[in-house]
Amino acid sequence: MSEKLLEVNHYSAEMKTDGGTLYILQDINFHVNEDECFGIIGESGCGKTMTSMAILRYGERLGLARSGGEILFQGENVESFGRKRLKEYNGKDTLIILQDPMQALDPLFTIEKQLLETVKARGGASKAEAREEIREVLKKLSISEEKLKCYPHELSGGMLQRIVGAMVILHKPKLIIADEPTTALDVSIQLQYLKLLKQIQKEYHTSIIFISHDIKVISMMCDRIAVMYGGRVVEQGTKEQLFSSPVHPYTRALFKSGNMGGIPQDRYETIEGNPPDLHEKSEGCPFADRCKHAREKCHKALPELQEFGDGHEALCWRPRI
Ligand SMILES: Nc1ncnc2c1ncn2[C@@H]1O[C@H](COP(=O)(O)OP(=O)(O)OP(=O)(O)O)[C@@H](O)[C@H]1O
Ligand code: SF4
Ligand SMILES: [Mg+2]
Repeated sequence: MSEKLLEVNHYSAEMKTDGGTLYILQDINFHVNEDECFGIIGESGCGKTMTSMAILRYGERLGLARSGGEILFQGENVESFGRKRLKEYNGKDTLIILQDPMQALDPLFTIEKQLLETVKARGGASKAEAREEIREVLKKLSISEEKLKCYPHELSGGMLQRIVGAMVILHKPKLIIADEPTTALDVSIQLQYLKLLKQIQKEYHTSIIFISHDIKVISMMCDRIAVMYGGRVVEQGTKEQLFSSPVHPYTRALFKSGNMGGIPQDRYETIEGNPPDLHEKSEGCPFADRCKHAREKCHKALPELQEFGDGHEALCWRPRI
């Protein structure tokens, strides 16, 4: 059985604003195993990016303060990290990939310089070893060595993606957080990039937290999935559990009803109403105002977590089994 690389244990965090306290993350509970791709889906504003910021310890800079729980990386509490360990955690153990993979490249430097910098930042190799390592990675990704002398603007989109892939491999992170990594890309090259990330994950036994709005992409990439709503994880389980038998009314509403029997081929259906106001800690279920199945109890008391076996769980009083 795989080891847990990351554990987010009942983690809550708030942000003070001029308009009052925002309860941005509430009792978030999930783990990411070594060598797996863990997906997070949910509507805009539900807390996907803030969860990743908290994991990487960037939350503090954004004014996000922990109010409960803990985040463990290989069993170590990330909040206990001193300056040196934090630098290593952010610079070596983890890597965040944002919307545009090209953001990882600096237009002013050659590809060679940037790849050498990646190995230098990671550490553990002399310059000669770094050059050798780079040569091997280029070969693996079918990138000719001539490209090393090029600047990013001289290369095609597909080639730049492979260079970013090479950077990821050279960085050797244990955990990649990919936050909507393909939204800024043309559809024609999205698939290629996703396949490359998947190849890297499998071959180098890297773990990925993959954040996306796109259910099709999530289903292609992820082994297990958490569905977030209003700063909470409302359902989680394996891809098969969630797509073949989702139990939370919100998860079910995310998938178009016609596709419930199999992997949905589409994105969200429109869900009537608005997400909850994060200024208030709801007494009842955060989805109650929009849920077709809500009863009085749903408005009065926060649901207890219900388990459906093998890690499949949902926060709902009336799961649709
Ligand atoms: N600097 C900030 N000040 C106040 N509120 C913020 C700030 N940053 C984020 N929030 C709020 O925190 C909540 C969670 O935001 P987050 O960015 O994690 O959402 P998300 O799920 O990643 O959404 P999206 O899919 O649009 O990227 C949102 O309601 C957002 O308005
Ligand atoms: S607890 Fe009630 S309101 Fe909330 S999702 Fe379940 S049925 Fe709907
Ligand atoms: Mg986001």
